[in-house]
Amino acid sequence: MRITDTSDLWWRTAVIYCLDVETFLDWGGDGTGDFAGLAQRIDYLAEVGVTCLWLMPFYPTPDRDDGYDIVDFYGVDPRLGTLGDFVEVMRTARDRGMRVIVDLVVNHTSDRHPWFRSARSSPNSRYRDWYVWRDEPGEDMELVFPDKEESVWTYDERARQYYLHRFYRHQPDLNVENPDVRDEIAKIVGFWLELGVSGFRVDAVPFLIEAESAAQDVPDRHEHLRDLRAFLGRRSGEAILLGEVNLERDEQVRFFGGDAGDEMHMLFDFIAMQRLYLSLARQDAAPIAEAILDRPPIARASQWATFVRNHDELTLDKLSDEERQEVFEAFGPDPEMQVFGRGLRRRLPTMLDGDPRRIRMVYSLLFSLPGTPVLFYGEEIGMGENLEAEGRYAVRTPMQWTASRNGGFSDAAPSKLPGPVVEGGFGPEHVNVESQRRDPASLLSFMTLLVQRYRECPELGWGDFELLDQPNPAVLAHRVRWDDAAIVALHNLAPEPCTVPLTLGPCEAGTDLVDLLCDGVSPIDERGHAEVTLEGFGFRWLRPVSPTSRRLR
Ligand code: GLC
Repeated sequence: MRITDTSDLWWRTAVIYCLDVETFLDWGGDGTGDFAGLAQRIDYLAEVGVTCLWLMPFYPTPDRDDGYDIVDFYGVDPRLGTLGDFVEVMRTARDRGMRVIVDLVVNHTSDRHPWFRSARSSPNSRYRDWYVWRDEPGEDMELVFPDKEESVWTYDERARQYYLHRFYRHQPDLNVENPDVRDEIAKIVGFWLELGVSGFRVDAVPFLIEAESAAQDVPDRHEHLRDLRAFLGRRSGEAILLGEVNLERDEQVRFFGGDAGDEMHMLFDFIAMQRLYLSLARQDAAPIAEAILDRPPIARASQWATFVRNHDELTLDKLSDEERQEVFEAFGPDPEMQVFGRGLRRRLPTMLDGDPRRIRMVYSLLFSLPGTPVLFYGEEIGMGENLEAEGRYAVRTPMQWTASRNGGFSDAAPSKLPGPVVEGGFGPEHVNVESQRRDPASLLSFMTLLVQRYRECPELGWGDFELLDQPNPAVLAHRVRWDDAAIVALHNLAPEPCTVPLTLGPCEAGTDLVDLLCDGVSPIDERGHAEVTLEGFGFRWLRPVSPTSRRLR
């Protein structure tokens, strides 16, 4: 294995940053964020060290699900700019060494999409069979949005049939069994690749390929994903598919394409994310350690995407009822902080009562676990949420650039913004980019350091996880090794300081543990023992460095 492999399989060591153009920066002054605004902030993102942007849906939309309801897969929402503005952003990002991936939302369309309008208008429409119709409601399936919908089947007066929608009723599911639909999906993928994207965050992957009824005699549905992957590979050697697949471990393996690794390149590790919150609530490292140990082996070009927050509810659906309750009690006891009975609509800093030590410890942990970290905009400055906003929109508030009106997001009247700005202690007066840029002790400065160190440690993206034995239940002590490189990471999930005795195995005489995030060196004795202290919620990244090592200390 060579260090240069990290540029071919770039996604294994990337730093991905998710943003919605609509809420990032309004340059036009009409209250809506736009591509012109994003172009202005590419340098900021490059300074933080982001290597790949993930753009949430920016396509023309009636905007009833924040753009996840699309009426044209080949365009740009005119409120955000034009295709020309999109290309300008692509070009600027590439110049700053940043890749861009975009949301691919092809499980469904908006009900106002011309395909659906035509489909519902007549059984003879060429688009009729692009959707899933039944004379009687089909199989009852689990609802994704139980607060708004009662069934995944809705009767359409015009079509005089029921149609399937796994999400809202205004998002009819496309029929991917139809070869014409598959061809169209490939065309969409091909279109954006021509405009320079490096891949796709694929929305709702399991729903995309699911059988309407298990009883139906349908051949291997994963074939669709394999075809898509092969097509992607033919069109671009570097493009990736990052799948939203919130399923149990054994199912996840299938969406990677098993040993062949020929489906999704990356999957979000929803399980590790949920177990992390359980660990934080209990101040016990076991749940997160188990989640990482429990990861199935994956192919060389596959990778886990790690995260602590995304744009949706912080789902806790893979925890048991009691475990979920523990996390609710610790981090979101009020019913208004919860949503869909399974998740939280808060951001990390508010859940941790703004404790800077604890917030940093969590991000240090995120970046030190094997995988590729994904940040949601505003995490780097510690933004909070606004619970006044509806449902999941609580965490999709405008980016906070300055302490001035609208957090510097827009010059327009507050009523024109896509949603309310955060208020109170986490509002722009206290949490904004401008002031944190000038403060070496800020969260932004810390996150920038973390990103820099992560990028200098390819073992974190490529290496194997090993849990290190030590006596403190609140401490996660782990080592990630790749070839002759290694990082030892220690994280104290509890407020009490502690000492961590470590047994690291045989190493060259004179090997030290060198701190990578601050100044400090701990000796390792000839039997491979070391003793390291941690403050309350403290953390250390330690690299074993032998006298003959040539790596930077
Ligand atoms: C995914 C998205 C979510 C959206 C849904 C329907 O789960 O993450 O935001 O509402 O798909 O497209």
